Amino acid sequence: CGIVGYIGHQESQSILIEGLKKLEYRGYDSAGIAVYTDQGLSVSKAQGRLAVLESHLEQQPLKGHVGIGHTRWATHGKPSDVNSHPHSDTTGKFSVVHNGIIENYIALKEELTAKGHQFVSETDTEVIAHLIADLYQGDLVQAVREAVKKMRGAYAIAAMCEFEPEKLVTVRLASPLVIGVGQGENFIASDIPAILEYTRDVYILNDGEMAVLTNDHVELMDLEGNRISREMYKVEWDIVTAEKAGYDHFMLKEIYEQPKAYRDTMGARIDDAGKRIVLDEVKMTAQQIQDIHQIHIVACGTAYHAGLVGKSVIESLARIPVEVEVASEYRYRNPIITPNTLVIVVSQSGETADTLAALKEAKRCGARVLAITNVVGSSVSREADDVIVTWAGPEIAVASTKAYTSQLIAFYLLGLYFAQTLGMQEAEVIEETIQALRQLPEQVESILADAEKIKVYAEQISKHDNLFFIGRGLDYAVAQEGSLKLKEISYIHSEAYAAGELKHGTLALIEEGIPVIALATQEELLEKTVSNIKEVAARGAYVMGVGSEGNEEIAKAVDELFTIPRTLPLLTPALSVVPLQLLSYYASLARGNDVDKPRNLAKSVTVE
Ligand code: G6P
Repeated sequence: CGIVGYIGHQESQSILIEGLKKLEYRGYDSAGIAVYTDQGLSVSKAQGRLAVLESHLEQQPLKGHVGIGHTRWATHGKPSDVNSHPHSDTTGKFSVVHNGIIENYIALKEELTAKGHQFVSETDTEVIAHLIADLYQGDLVQAVREAVKKMRGAYAIAAMCEFEPEKLVTVRLASPLVIGVGQGENFIASDIPAILEYTRDVYILNDGEMAVLTNDHVELMDLEGNRISREMYKVEWDIVTAEKAGYDHFMLKEIYEQPKAYRDTMGARIDDAGKRIVLDEVKMTAQQIQDIHQIHIVACGTAYHAGLVGKSVIESLARIPVEVEVASEYRYRNPIITPNTLVIVVSQSGETADTLAALKEAKRCGARVLAITNVVGSSVSREADDVIVTWAGPEIAVASTKAYTSQLIAFYLLGLYFAQTLGMQEAEVIEETIQALRQLPEQVESILADAEKIKVYAEQISKHDNLFFIGRGLDYAVAQEGSLKLKEISYIHSEAYAAGELKHGTLALIEEGIPVIALATQEELLEKTVSNIKEVAARGAYVMGVGSEGNEEIAKAVDELFTIPRTLPLLTPALSVVPLQLLSYYASLARGNDVDKPRNLAKSVTVE
């Protein structure tokens, strides 16, 4: 989502709208603004692109010099007028816009409802407005501070109230927020592009910091109210760079957003003690889960590759048999579906035509359908019986990165949830896996810190026209995604092979100097994979290995080694794919391709 706020001498409406236009890439299912007018606090909001809101405002402009605005990417609650931001309390005197997730919103909502607050939307954000109103005793800053202490999650908020119209209050907790400083006017934005037209002087808020803005003053403070002094940052970027938060491409930005996407997707789905999975969105009863005899995972492209990992995860944790198939095949082959079949469709966009058709076919045959998707309110999410939303945020680059890895996280959560419901794993195993899951975001950060190493290797392979990926088990599943990524954006032909199958034909293609990328993270299969590495090396291949830290055997067998931090064998895909994403990115760059918009491909394929 995107946030803007304005306080100053100009009319706020057009500044808010212009700001939101620059943020449309952040989410675009609905938009809204709240302005302090001579009628008091007034809100205008609408589902749909920003143009819909603009036409409303043309009919009924909101005149005033203070306001907040929002463009939404739905998380809690489908896209609709009423779920759009800004959200207000029952009296309409307090308005807020919000990015991120409030994990304990249901409990807060229950508390506030008991006190007489009336809620109109399905969002977590509305709770914030009511909470602030509830705590308000004549000081907005104080009320916001107290509200924040009751909220759990990762978020950025901007709030205003009718009783103190000369002020905007904003807080950051793990969602980006900047304050723009002007002459007799000040700005709030979730991203710099929104305000770049008006000022280049900004304060960047850190987690746990808040700011109070008036026309002439910006005050930064921590959540205890202690003042913070911060150096002003001068933005030197042009608008195109600013949209990508300073990264050269959306793909790179999205690769670096993965630690956050992991954290958000896990969010409140792990209980506070770190012992159990809480998947309230899965409505299946324990009996219905008991009754599942088989699972079909159906998807296209990268989402299909996430399904390949999902199969291993569910089979090994919950011991339910799983088949994975591409949607374009599944829909036409009259698959064997019984009332005891669960079909899981995976789709970033939730709009892929083949996936949607497969979903409908599965339902027609009587299956229950669970969707894993990144877009709340998408066609797939509307048609499915249960929906697990990945909270990766909007993905712009055609080559999927953070959506894929968030799908992996969703599968880990689901596999654990089934195992826990079915009593298939000891409580200690569940707990140990949860612990390891929670370490993944930091481990990805450490891989990203090593990106330069991959860049050098990517530049070497960019000179080749053919290469191979090999791996066994989960490494083979990741190899397939690595190979697809490379094809999509570097246009280098590659094939992913189950390492043990190579000698049955493909080995004939190995010749002097050909690059082979060998994944060997699966401890139990290590010796076997190392033998396969030796087979290709003996025939002249130049091998880059991806292995877990401290693994001497693979280090000796390869020409180059990239190591990933140690984790449980089942979780390695969430780490090992990251160097492969970087490899494709840098290879594409070295070849001078359009990384974010590769030729012939579309982000969402809504035709068969
Ligand atoms: C297109 C995209 C791929 C994506 C596939 C499935 O082909 O280019 O990156 O993996 O569609 O998309 P979905 O939105 O269903 O995950």
